[in-house]
Amino acid sequence: MAPNTKVKTLKAEPSGSSQSLHTQAPAWPEGAGTRTTTQDQAFTFDVAIVGMGYVGLPTALAINASGRRVLGLDVSDARLAVIREQRADLLDSDKERLSNALLDPTFMLSSDLSLLAHAAAVVVCVPTPVDEYLVPDLGILRAACASVVDFATTGQLLMLTSTTYVGSTRDLLALPLAAKGLIPGRDVFVAFSPERINPGVDSFSHEDVPRVVGGVTPACGEVAERLLSASTKLVHVVPSADVAEMTKLVENTFRAVNIALANEFADICHELNMEVMDVIDAASTKPYGFMAFTPGPGVGGHCIPCDPHYLLWQLRKARLTAPVIEQAMAGIAGRPHQVVEKARRILSDRNHGVAGARVMVLGVAYKPDVEDLRESPALEIIAALIADGAEVAFSDPWCRTAPDGHGGTLESEQSPADWGADLVILHTRHSQTELDWLAGAPAVLDTTYRLPKADNVTRL
Ligand SMILES: NC(=O)c1ccc[n+]([C@@H]2O[C@H](COP(=O)([O-])OP(=O)(O)OC[C@H]3O[C@@H](n4cnc5c(N)ncnc54)[C@H](O)[C@@H]3O)[C@@H](O)[C@H]2O)c1
Repeated sequence: MAPNTKVKTLKAEPSGSSQSLHTQAPAWPEGAGTRTTTQDQAFTFDVAIVGMGYVGLPTALAINASGRRVLGLDVSDARLAVIREQRADLLDSDKERLSNALLDPTFMLSSDLSLLAHAAAVVVCVPTPVDEYLVPDLGILRAACASVVDFATTGQLLMLTSTTYVGSTRDLLALPLAAKGLIPGRDVFVAFSPERINPGVDSFSHEDVPRVVGGVTPACGEVAERLLSASTKLVHVVPSADVAEMTKLVENTFRAVNIALANEFADICHELNMEVMDVIDAASTKPYGFMAFTPGPGVGGHCIPCDPHYLLWQLRKARLTAPVIEQAMAGIAGRPHQVVEKARRILSDRNHGVAGARVMVLGVAYKPDVEDLRESPALEIIAALIADGAEVAFSDPWCRTAPDGHGGTLESEQSPADWGADLVILHTRHSQTELDWLAGAPAVLDTTYRLPKADNVTRL
């Protein structure tokens, strides 16, 4: 069994002094003659994935489909049971991969982290949320990386893929490994490669989405590139793990800023009496220099509402500001409140107070065709309406239950048309969401900006 060497735990803070965000040049020498294969018969598994969630599971399946022996590790037995029982939220193509993998001896699931020592490559894919104060919660990532370091052994590639602050790969993997005597680039290979999975969307296969990777040393980058190339057509190697970490932050901050801008244009168009989607659709005809983002009730999931806060948190340490990003995140955070205010106004126009009103929220997942409720604006909207005395129900073909924000749980209404809503809030439009009945609803608040115009429909 694997050695379980305890190592000195280094404090993982954002890198650099309080004055500077510049990262230190790696202090470890380049290795020569070390094993650089990830399909190494000395190891039982080619790749171990730590964290078999929304991202880790499809990643594990894609790597397994490329012919690698994969170990899927998760500390949650409940999550492993969901995977084994094939109840995980996956694209149809991945569901097929999973049913094949579960019958294949080259795919193994376990909660025993000591098995990490038997994998040639280890890919860390655990959540990196923010807490209720929007401060990065690094506890899960630190714990996962500590396990990886504990069980690390010579010749392994250790790759972080969770979205995180710049310097994490060095702070949480490279330095503790070096303290244990495993020098990155010589004894082990350490890299960062951001995940780019887009849950619920199958327009791009895992293999077709290019991967960015940066090693702690050039040799680390080369070994990581080799692993990724086995299951991805294009791998873009950047000069350092720091650059790869920042790449993910710029990707998701770009989305956040543009969603905030689309929301702002929606409000502007409303005031100027035009349909924002007419404007965005028209601008989208420009073949260069414009990329369409659509307004909505806010953002959810574990990326856009969280990732830019990792950057802002890190900047605060260096006493730096990023006003554009800060404004965008504030705008996004305030959006569910705008939905509640608009609902209040629609009800008031119909001589109805919020207290006692029956409000149906149609679609609560944070985006179409997923069951993920994390950070969904719907949760804040439901909680606020209930706090104001409304009777709130929801209907969502993907989500059976949703928290009501007051310690209770709501169950999805099977027949929303028969529930007798005074107001329907269209929050998430799944592909199979039935919309015809909305024509007969007393009032509809469309937060998707996509419903056809009608007398009973108000745009957010
Ligand atoms: N969900 C997305 O759309 C998406 C897309 C790209 C990148 N990401 C990033 O990928 C990372 C993972 O996100 P996710 O949505 O897959 O998270 P998730 O919550 O769906 O899954 C994470 C899994 O990790 C497990 N886990 C937690 N601690 C562990 C440990 N110490 N050892 C082993 N397993 C552990 C949990 O039990 C859970 O099953 C995050 O950093 C996220 O920002 C997410």
